Amino acid sequence: MIKVDGLTKRYDRTVAVNNISFEVEKGQIVGFLGPNGAGKTTTMRILTCFMPPTDGTASIAGFDVMKSPLEVKRRIGYLPENPPVYPEMEVHEYLSFVGRLKGIPSAELPQRVKDVSERCAVADVSKKLISKLSKGYRQRVGLAQAIIHNPDVLILDEPTAGLDPKQIHETRDLIRSLAGVHTIILSTHILPEVEQTCDHVVIISKGLIVAKDSVQNLTSRLRGQEAVLVEVAGASTDDVRRRLEQVAGVSRVLHKDTRNGAHVFEVESLPGENVRASLARAVVEAGWNLNELHAAALSLEDVFLELTAAEKAQGGQQ
Ligand SMILES: Nc1ncnc2c1ncn2[C@@H]1O[C@H](COP(=O)(O)OP(=O)(O)O)[C@@H](O)[C@H]1O
Ligand SMILES: [Mg+2]
Repeated sequence: MIKVDGLTKRYDRTVAVNNISFEVEKGQIVGFLGPNGAGKTTTMRILTCFMPPTDGTASIAGFDVMKSPLEVKRRIGYLPENPPVYPEMEVHEYLSFVGRLKGIPSAELPQRVKDVSERCAVADVSKKLISKLSKGYRQRVGLAQAIIHNPDVLILDEPTAGLDPKQIHETRDLIRSLAGVHTIILSTHILPEVEQTCDHVVIISKGLIVAKDSVQNLTSRLRGQEAVLVEVAGASTDDVRRRLEQVAGVSRVLHKDTRNGAHVFEVESLPGENVRASLARAVVEAGWNLNELHAAALSLEDVFLELTAAEKAQGGQQ
């Protein structure tokens, strides 16, 4: 439903997004997780036709954001990081205004406004000025305007930023209730947000995608598992695999590649086990060559540490 392929965005000297690719399937709710400055908002602005990429492509429901922006806009609802505010409008006026902009026929408009107000739990403030609303209500009005034309895809940029815990809880419930009907991508810099709201996650750091996984896989890895890359030469793939699987603490051995007679395996271990030394010993004792052994790429644990560091640096303003 959402397809991003080799997307790059440069601002003068800053490369905000660097050749990223990912896909979101229909009906999924995907967390776009990364610290501040990672490139989340930039990606979302490209997906919503707000600005063009420097390179690469993005499409929504098969429509390219550059070639068919009208088709794209019809199919997406967007909650920007800083939603435009119309403090002097009442909630129902604002929703009708957005509905008209999105081409909803006037005859259907009042019913649509009523429906989305109920769905987003803002019906009770429908006659209130937007300036008088709490941040939680304002965010739900933002969600109501995003779904008013019943788009296939929702793009939500930090939908719970700046809310208090109760409002965060309500907003997450609302977003989850919208999943299924809509395909959703939401950005956040907070890991628990992804755990509680999303089924898949794409992690971005410094403009690069560092992980794409189901939330289940991500969280089990973060609970102390680590992946180690091992490159071994001097034996068959099967022999090496069997030997690595026998090492105490190893939970999974994946064959990644064979090049010039050397086999590369990714080895996952049980929570809390550090298997690197045992892996090295097993290979050497078998009389094989250990060409390489190191933590796999940028581990999710590393990413997580970076994320929490970014969160702390913010001084708890979330
Ligand atoms: N309009 C802009 N002009 C120049 N640099 C920008 C602009 N917008 C964002 N950036 C830079 O691009 C990088 C990614 O920003 P952004 O997409 O807003 O990240 P995130 O939403 O993940 O916090 C940051 O280094 C930011 O400073
Ligand atoms: Mg942002």
